[in-house]
Amino acid sequence: MEKSRLLQLAKQIEVCRRCDLYKGAKNAVPGEGNPKTGILFIGEAPGFNEDIQGLPFVGNAGKYLDNLLTKIGLSRGDVFITNMVKHRPPENRDPSFGEIAACNAWLEEQLTIIEPKVIVTLGRLSLNYFLPNAKISDVHGHPYRVRNYIVLPMYHPAAALRSMQITTELESDFQKNLELLNNPDLSKHITESYQDSGQASLF
Ligand code: URA
Repeated sequence: MEKSRLLQLAKQIEVCRRCDLYKGAKNAVPGEGNPKTGILFIGEAPGFNEDIQGLPFVGNAGKYLDNLLTKIGLSRGDVFITNMVKHRPPENRDPSFGEIAACNAWLEEQLTIIEPKVIVTLGRLSLNYFLPNAKISDVHGHPYRVRNYIVLPMYHPAAALRSMQITTELESDFQKNLELLNNPDLSKHITESYQDSGQASLF
């Protein structure tokens, strides 16, 4: 049921003209994985390899993400993976505010269909969609209740490939959340919101 609704949605995303990114892209990258396990990973935007294959996280950052999942006993087939924007920005630049806003409706439809229990945000863009003022260095690895979800902010795997310190932090954040990621039903016991944590007062 979820799979067929997501396939239907992917067909709409393939012909999306809500912003200009489609003009320079070879393929749309709607997302892939298992929509039934309750875990949704959200990255930033497709890069070179993702654009060619029409699949998320299939380049170096994706291989590293597979590796991180394997280390906690999961594979990409156990989660659903998507991005904030579904077409590749030219030269892998960051998507603009307008492009992200234009693409949000697709993400919201995916949230409605998948009803994730745990959302792992990879990098700053997806983090700030759910926690607009949060700084990734303050909140990474810590699960927060947002809307009906538990949002678990993580550093982007590409950032870890550039920095040993971030590699260490990202791997430790995966290990710290191993139980939650293997059993997303545990999320119902997490009540702390970002505001309750007192961190919002920093902004
Ligand atoms: N980086 C992302 O944020 N998403 C991808 O799909 C690939 C690289």
